[in-house]
Amino acid sequence: MNILVAGGAGFIGSHTMVELLNAGYNVICVDNLYNSSNEAINRVEKITSKKVKFYLCDLIYIDKLNQIFLQEKIDAVIMFAGYKAVGESSTKPLEYYYNNLLSIMNMIEVMRKHNCKNLIFSSSATVYGQNVSVPITEDSYVGDLKNITNPYGRTKLMIEQILYDVANSDKDFKMIILRYFNPVGAHDSGLIGEDPKGIPNNLMPYIAQVAVGKRSELHIFGNDYNTKDGTGVRDYIHVVDLSIGHILSLNIFFNSDKKYTADGINNNIYIYNLGTGIGYSVLDVKNAYEKVANIKIPYVFDDRRLGDIDELYCSPHKAKNELNWVAKRDLFDMCETSYNFQKNNPKGYDDMNNHNIVFAERK
Ligand code: UD1
Repeated sequence: MNILVAGGAGFIGSHTMVELLNAGYNVICVDNLYNSSNEAINRVEKITSKKVKFYLCDLIYIDKLNQIFLQEKIDAVIMFAGYKAVGESSTKPLEYYYNNLLSIMNMIEVMRKHNCKNLIFSSSATVYGQNVSVPITEDSYVGDLKNITNPYGRTKLMIEQILYDVANSDKDFKMIILRYFNPVGAHDSGLIGEDPKGIPNNLMPYIAQVAVGKRSELHIFGNDYNTKDGTGVRDYIHVVDLSIGHILSLNIFFNSDKKYTADGINNNIYIYNLGTGIGYSVLDVKNAYEKVANIKIPYVFDDRRLGDIDELYCSPHKAKNELNWVAKRDLFDMCETSYNFQKNNPKGYDDMNNHNIVFAERK
């Protein structure tokens, strides 16, 4: 089976390519390398001793994408590609709407044209908005754009709606929406991990940079939340567990003897939360990191960050019952692998080593 991974050079994409290759799938990676590195693809090949076919292509150019589908027979698409910086999305809303929405619409159009109708989409817990009660199930309320605090999050919810409408209009299309909680950690090899450009927005990559001395101290955003220690609580999930969730989801397309609970008028859209179901506070994460790294993480308390809420964690039962998926790696594994990657790659990926790029040219 040939799986096209859009955004495969990124953090979650690269880990998922490893699991796909290990499971025996052929991987065709499409990426514009805007926010990622082709060195990640080299390292996926190193970890697995298998080849990835890589096309440098921006999904906003539909002709180029079409060209790839003319060259390759694709059985399913996993769509990671998209802009994802929450803060930036508020200053560049048009760029986020244009890029994220056009990319998925082009992808669906080209898939339809080539009769490839199996799509997994990376969604986010952000679609549940601010006024949600925990634990969050897939049936928790979704759907109010005003309840989401930033344009990035709104693109996720808008895309989910587009997928619903396409699935309802075409019963042959199978769509899987995976709503990620807080993906962190890195591959055990220390070869691939999260490599944010500039100042990290998210907690664990920021702690990782403090741990190796790249930043002086952690700023904890708020200590007056209604949580056990006053700091925000989130459902951190190891990126390898998350990646395995994608591999198990592919069974919905390729191994249909099992019963999966579908949504949508034509019963062809499937939604799963991917999180551990356990909430950890910012201080829990900092303390676990200090333990595994055997290092002190200096920190200060700052004001709350706009749009943050007390606590967010999921109920992972649907994914467990139907996909047979369980998150096996705990908070210590997450911190240990994050630290290992950061230590091995203090400057992130080294782009000197260019992968053999195939350009997706217009005919
Ligand atoms: C954020 C996004 C979410 C996105 C996810 C990707 C928001 C509102 N949500 O989730 O849409 O899918 O990242 O993983 O931005 N914190 C600090 N100091 C820091 C960074 C974070 O104290 O330097 C705290 C935050 O206040 C929060 C927790 O750490 O309580 C987790 O923050 P973060 O890693 O940014 O993830 P989310 O905000 O949960």
